[in-house]
Amino acid sequence: MQIQRDYKQAILGKYPEGVVIVVAKTPEGRYNPITLGWTMITSHEPPMFAISVGLTRYSRKVIEKAGEFVLSFPSGEMAEAALFYGTNSGRELDKMAEFPVATQPTVSIDSLLLSDAVANFECKLVSQLETGDHVIFVGEVLASHQHEDEDTKRLYTWAQGYKMGEAELSSD
Ligand SMILES: Cc1cc2nc3c(=O)[nH]c(=O)nc-3n(C[C@H](O)[C@H](O)[C@H](O)COP(=O)(O)O)c2cc1C
Repeated sequence: MQIQRDYKQAILGKYPEGVVIVVAKTPEGRYNPITLGWTMITSHEPPMFAISVGLTRYSRKVIEKAGEFVLSFPSGEMAEAALFYGTNSGRELDKMAEFPVATQPTVSIDSLLLSDAVANFECKLVSQLETGDHVIFVGEVLASHQHEDEDTKRLYTWAQGYKMGEAELSSD
């Protein structure tokens, strides 16, 4: 049985939510990471992802101008970096200089791979759609990378307030 609730209450039932970090190059030449919870796969062939970025976010303009981005699935051990990149703006600081993580060069676009992530996908921006106070960016995957340790676990948000940790996933 369902009980009608305020949206803000009912939506709390969505957790846990997978976390991603998107990295795009700024016009000044910095690589700016943003932490996102609102993402999805939208196509197998060609592989595509959608990410939802707030209209007022610095990353909104950065991704639009760069026309490309890396979408990274951080591992559980990257929780502090994800929190830092998700609570500080690249408008005011160089997030990757303030909170460095291991990186590797990309092969198809100008961005960075996060070495400790479960997987990284190099994406070309192919379309965008404004939805309310966010814009959905759709990226087509040009190159894919996976951590050499296939047991590396993805980072999830467990509850409101950015409570984060890794998830034990079933292989079924
Ligand atoms: C776990 C988590 C999930 C988040 N999900 C989103 C999201 O889906 N979309 C979004 O626009 N911001 C999201 N944020 C907030 C941005 O990461 C945050 O506003 C960031 O500081 C923006 O960086 P920028 O100003 O460099 O673009 C999330 C933050 C955290 C910690």
